[in-house]
Amino acid sequence: MDLNERQKKMNRLHQEIRTTEPCPLCPYRTHAVPGEGPIDARLFIIGEAPGEEEDKVGRPFVGRAGMLLNTVLAETGFDREKIFITNAVKCRPPQNRKPSVGELRACRPFLDRQLEWVQPEWICTLGAVSTNIFLEGTLTKIHGSMYPIRYQGREYKLFPTFHPAAAFRVPVLKDEIRKDFKKLNELIA
Ligand code: URA
Repeated sequence: MDLNERQKKMNRLHQEIRTTEPCPLCPYRTHAVPGEGPIDARLFIIGEAPGEEEDKVGRPFVGRAGMLLNTVLAETGFDREKIFITNAVKCRPPQNRKPSVGELRACRPFLDRQLEWVQPEWICTLGAVSTNIFLEGTLTKIHGSMYPIRYQGREYKLFPTFHPAAAFRVPVLKDEIRKDFKKLNELIA
């Protein structure tokens, strides 16, 4: 399937995400947040769920955690414009609570199709919620390394790190996230 075709499918998928309500989170949203980025991105970042700012505008990582993510990406040599960025669930959970297992399951087909259309080489998961979709284990032990995985019949290089919002609660994590992204950039280069 060529890039044009994949982009068309992605546009249709994002329209579907904005207009359908497959899970109990959907009625609470102002905007669904499908995600954004180039259809041929080599790196695909997955956060947890949209927060308040993301819900207001319908774009991922535009609030406080997004600002920190932007800073770390710029500091470690990444260009956000070249990355596909999305979340494990596409609608904001009330009070920013963690998405439930059922909510993650209901939203998973959207993520699966996004991966199918982008076909990235690398997946970087931010935090335990998105990491544990692909890999079991405690983030403190598994972050900052590459894991070859097979998902939906395709091979990916998985690179888990901490969620930027965790650095607001535990400030030392900011350095860990920065170190991880620096390593990821070296591995991708
Ligand atoms: N946190 C996330 O996990 N995703 C966003 O888009 C914003 C904050």
